[in-house]
Amino acid sequence: MLNLDQKVLKLLNKEQFLSGQKMADQLGVSRTAVWKSIQNLKRDGYKVESVTNKGYMLTRSSDKLTETLLSSMISQSDLFTDIIYRESVDSTQKVAFQYISEKQQPFIVVSNEQTGGRGRFNREWLSPKSSGLYMSAVLKPDIELNEIIKFNLFISLAIARAIEKSFNLQTGIKWPNDIYINDKKVCGFLTEVLSENNMIQSIICGIGINLYETQSVKEINNATSIESELRKNDRMVIEMELFLNHLVKEIEHYYELFLSTPFSTIKDDWVSKSIIFGRGMRISEMNRSYMGKPVDITDDGFLVVTDEAGEIHKIISADIEF
Ligand code: BTN
Repeated sequence: MLNLDQKVLKLLNKEQFLSGQKMADQLGVSRTAVWKSIQNLKRDGYKVESVTNKGYMLTRSSDKLTETLLSSMISQSDLFTDIIYRESVDSTQKVAFQYISEKQQPFIVVSNEQTGGRGRFNREWLSPKSSGLYMSAVLKPDIELNEIIKFNLFISLAIARAIEKSFNLQTGIKWPNDIYINDKKVCGFLTEVLSENNMIQSIICGIGINLYETQSVKEINNATSIESELRKNDRMVIEMELFLNHLVKEIEHYYELFLSTPFSTIKDDWVSKSIIFGRGMRISEMNRSYMGKPVDITDDGFLVVTDEAGEIHKIISADIEF
């Protein structure tokens, strides 16, 4: 159910002015209520032009992450039915786990700040206020546990494509869970599952994207942000609405493909975006660490690596460093 701010946002047309009275009539509220909603939208970062006798026109969507924006995005989604937005949380993964049994359908948790953000291998994921997208998407597929490897491959392509479509920036995938721009990490994701008897009950996919160039991004070795990559091309504005819409649409698209097709369907696409093939790197598996070069990925998602002695390894989970 949309609130008044979201309904006003839906009515505001980028192409033409709409009078406050017309909006009030359509929504069955007073002109003052419409005016108040427009002030709220402006506070949320939307640019709304107002001209006497003509009305209001949306000139630019918000560059801020707001509940209004998120709800209107979810209202257009065919997959996600609900969104939980918080100003600050420990970790969106934790909040997602708390709501899992209550919600039978896929949902999203987003926060403007995380005080205990976690990455893979329980590493810290710095999540300062208003600086990044911190989101956990909960999906409820009816599939076997071992399919989760395939999920990561599909979701990495979804995120990479969403960043490209929204910002016109070239992205690369660093197996298994990172998205890079210009050889620097801009996004990491973390896939956790709840399962029973080898069947997945829920996938909780936590996505962290560095949107703005904060001190923490600067301090992390080999990290970048969307903002600093846009600046290189003299572009400044992160159109949050556009980005979130692309992100949700791409997740929907690749999730559907994941459920219905084998990895081979997207393998060529995935390989063409991968930035690891033929490069020497340190590969750290559970019990061993060695230098090697990824040379291929199998149809069932195993990474094929040759080590310095020419031995071939097929790996399913590891940490790799250039
Ligand atoms: C990694 O690169 O190691 C994965 C990072 C995942 C970070 C995201 S931010 C949203 C969600 N909440 C968390 O605590 N972690 C994930």
